[in-house]
Amino acid sequence: MKVQRHVIILICLMVGLFAFISCQRKQDHKVVGISMPTKSSERWLLDAKYTVLEFEEIGYETKLAFAEDVVGNQASQIDNFLDEGVDLLVIAPIDSNSLTDVLKRAKELGVPIISYDRLIMNSDAVDVYVSFNNEKVGEIQGQYIVDHLDFSDGEPKYMELFAGSADDNNTYYFFDGAMDVLRPYIEDGRLVVKSKQFDVKEVNTLRWDRMIAKSRMTSLLNNYYTEDRIDAVLSPYDGVSRGVIEALQENGYRQDDLPIVTGQDAELSSVQWIEKGMQSMTVFKDVRELAKKTVEVSQKLFENDLKSITNGEAYHNGIQDVDTVMLDVYEVNQKNWESVLVDKKYYTREEVLDE
Ligand code: GAL
Repeated sequence: MKVQRHVIILICLMVGLFAFISCQRKQDHKVVGISMPTKSSERWLLDAKYTVLEFEEIGYETKLAFAEDVVGNQASQIDNFLDEGVDLLVIAPIDSNSLTDVLKRAKELGVPIISYDRLIMNSDAVDVYVSFNNEKVGEIQGQYIVDHLDFSDGEPKYMELFAGSADDNNTYYFFDGAMDVLRPYIEDGRLVVKSKQFDVKEVNTLRWDRMIAKSRMTSLLNNYYTEDRIDAVLSPYDGVSRGVIEALQENGYRQDDLPIVTGQDAELSSVQWIEKGMQSMTVFKDVRELAKKTVEVSQKLFENDLKSITNGEAYHNGIQDVDTVMLDVYEVNQKNWESVLVDKKYYTREEVLDE
């Protein structure tokens, strides 16, 4: 009789424990909707790969969609995520201002939003922004130009400016960061922008598109540089840089005699061109770290403990201060690509050398 009672108690305990564990599991089991802007750039493919991996590592289920740079696609993909019942949204917006309705719906449903890499503007639905030090990206690009031009002959050096897509809020951080460094040189005449195109309205590159950059560079060369050689091009992103370099080469600049051309993202094709001395530099943003940080942030978000990871940092998105986590960025050039990218196992030496 006594033995029987013990067995019954033991069974009850085991059933209780099982119920407790499965309830915990259910609480921990989250579904994340990840919305990426496009597959057309190497960078976003890596962002997608690593965010999915990192979330799956902690047992979250992921749903992933690429919007192919069409704002309408992105809105309906996020709507679908909400229909399917996600617990969290990670969004890298194509247009920082255009997701208003679907974000409102997420907020009404209580689904938190992480603004990934690009800040979602003018929305009160965003919970946190995880990105890189974007002003610093621009500063590094601008600084590279002034450090590598030789002003000692007293002659003006010719430079043209390119910015990113005007609807991407990051465009302004990059451009302003670079112009803070370049402006004094423009003001005292050491740097001359012959086209006089200084404003983002004139120098932006819709959707960061390589072909748009190529055709603008071609017309700049035809209109302003038939007599004079251009010495430097501020380019915000590797895809744009490759378009610029293609235009330069098609217009008579030899591979070993190109002007300074900056970049960003350390895309493999650009790092290969840096190694060959065609593109001058890029700014490396380790998207593996961004993915890791996004997962950490999402856990803090669910624990209601965001402040412990944002350390008081916030960015204003037009209507609210959004808690922010910023990661560091690194210059990559012909001398240091191996120590920055190969040592960190971002690429192998063979990939860069295209062997
Ligand atoms: C920006 C991003 C850059 C670059 C660019 C084009 O928003 O911060 O790293 O990838 O988009 O895709």
